[in-house]
Amino acid sequence: METRLIVAGDAPVLAALHVAGFPDAPWSHTQISGSLSLPTTTGLLAYENETPLGFILCQMAGDESEILTFCTAPAARRRGIGNALLAQALHAARAQGIMRMFLDVAADNAAALALYEKNGFRPIGKRKNYYPRAHGAVDAVMLEKTW
Ligand SMILES: CC(C)(COP(=O)(O)OP(=O)(O)OC[C@H]1O[C@@H](n2cnc3c(N)ncnc32)[C@H](O)[C@@H]1OP(=O)(O)O)[C@@H](O)C(=O)NCCC(=O)NCCS
Repeated sequence: METRLIVAGDAPVLAALHVAGFPDAPWSHTQISGSLSLPTTTGLLAYENETPLGFILCQMAGDESEILTFCTAPAARRRGIGNALLAQALHAARAQGIMRMFLDVAADNAAALALYEKNGFRPIGKRKNYYPRAHGAVDAVMLEKTW
């Protein structure tokens, strides 16, 4: 598995990965293109033999960076790809002078919560009923990592 910086032309690839990662709330190609067009957006794509496996997209503001979205292709999970993307995004952020990384994650997303905890993120708050679900809304857990 290798990673590289995301470029504007990756929008269709990211949209395909996103719909597989977030089938209930996928970002459209237009949303992704819009995000990639901002100079403050940065991201990493993981791939193997030219097959895209996952990506992470962050938005920088001053010395902070927000993880906008992050997913691994369903068939490629539990192989360390998510961990590698997150660790590399943290490393790149530090190198760019970022001092804090933060994000929202659904309270029922055990996989992501475990991954963030493993990488030193800690909960700093909740947004009640933030993510709609068929059975009722789920809270967002706000996480941050500072250094
Ligand atoms: C969350 C996600 C990105 C993890 O990607 P991944 O490539 O499978 O992650 P990794 O293989 O690097 O796993 C790293 C660690 O995360 C945790 N983890 C990952 N998947 C898990 C699961 N299904 N259940 C519990 N813990 C899990 C474990 O601690 C794991 O370490 P281990 O394999 O040594 O136990 C992936 O499940 C995904 O794309 N989910 C859908 C989209 C999503 O929820 N994105 C995050 C939104 S904030």
